[in-house]
Amino acid sequence: MLMSENIADKLNDQVTSELAASQLYLQMSLACEAMGLSGAGAFFRSHVAEEIQHRDRIIDYMIESDAVVNLQTIPAPEANWKSLVDMVHSAYDHEKKVTDQINSLTKAALAEDDFSTFNMLQWFVAEQREEMMLFGDVVEFMNVAGFTGDTGDQMVNMDNYLRKLSK
Ligand SMILES: [Fe+2]
Repeated sequence: MLMSENIADKLNDQVTSELAASQLYLQMSLACEAMGLSGAGAFFRSHVAEEIQHRDRIIDYMIESDAVVNLQTIPAPEANWKSLVDMVHSAYDHEKKVTDQINSLTKAALAEDDFSTFNMLQWFVAEQREEMMLFGDVVEFMNVAGFTGDTGDQMVNMDNYLRKLSK
């Protein structure tokens, strides 16, 4: 194995975390569809495949490094969002959490002089920066638009904005 047991365990946990993220975004997408918000639904749905790609990126790296991947239980996402505003905030908070996870993984790789894993993780560092900017922009747009999550023109506006972002 081309990495320590510790790094392999942490990468394995990240595999689980990426798949959990894809489930979370799928649930968010479904909740939007249930509210008749197909633009917001498409936005969250586009993240489902992205998170699965993240999972596979780590799995492929582990396979190449002769590390064993053990799939773990994926908890059902909590789906008690009060509105689209609430959902966007919780997506932003979730990305913050993932950024922290990637940062601590990167720190661990560096602490062990595992420069190969450190190098692989640079892609994720850049990706998390993009995700934070994207969700940060959505939060900002909501604030600027004075969007409260109530139905009406602002809701249509928000749904169209998110549809555009999904493309
Ligand atoms: Fe991810």
